[in-house]
Amino acid sequence: MAIQLVVFDAYGTLFDVYSIGALAERLYPSQGAALSVLWRDKQIEYTRLISLSDPDPQGSRHYQSFWDITRAALRYALARLGLVHTPENEDALMAQYAELTPFPENLGVLQALRQRGIATAILSNGSPEMLQSAVRSADMLGCLDAVLSVDSVRQFKTTPTSYQLVLDHFELAPAEVLFVSSNAWDALGATWFGFTTLWVNRQGLPPEAIGPSPHHTGRDLSDVLKVLA
Ligand code: LAC
Repeated sequence: MAIQLVVFDAYGTLFDVYSIGALAERLYPSQGAALSVLWRDKQIEYTRLISLSDPDPQGSRHYQSFWDITRAALRYALARLGLVHTPENEDALMAQYAELTPFPENLGVLQALRQRGIATAILSNGSPEMLQSAVRSADMLGCLDAVLSVDSVRQFKTTPTSYQLVLDHFELAPAEVLFVSSNAWDALGATWFGFTTLWVNRQGLPPEAIGPSPHHTGRDLSDVLKVLA
């Protein structure tokens, strides 16, 4: 089945969540890398905790926006590492999260897809405001047909309801969608859902030990163009 639409995960795939490490290192010398990894892991853990704790398909009662979860995860990570929390440092790190550095090849890939007439979108756990701000600061606004946030269904990936947002918006069969994520767990969830998937293994990590494997694996976003060639 021919691919009609390429859907990207945002954090880690289009925007480098670890680019925050430099500021974290400046604020907390020798702890920057540890802080950014623990912060990210806790952020994702909270999304799962919330989605798992409420089976209501209409949306979770425990839902908090990804922005609020990100702030809570930062506070946890600081406490866990025994680092001093100040409102100034928290605000500085959160402000950076709103304008994360995009990976260098991304804009060119989005533009190439545009030229080929293939639709593009983001599906992210990110709340609408933080996604808009990241997309705007990365200059990607004109290259995307839709920026979809799970916020409208008050659940997080990998619930089927959150992936379904793509099909509701574009009215395509799941296999006509190429879902691209650098998060292996997201690629697996999207494969279970029925999308055609590309895992962009930017960090050279081992594949998930439970299957199925994603349909395609690459090293950076330009592998999207190879999959579609
Ligand atoms: C996202 C995170 C989970 O953008 O990477 O959905």
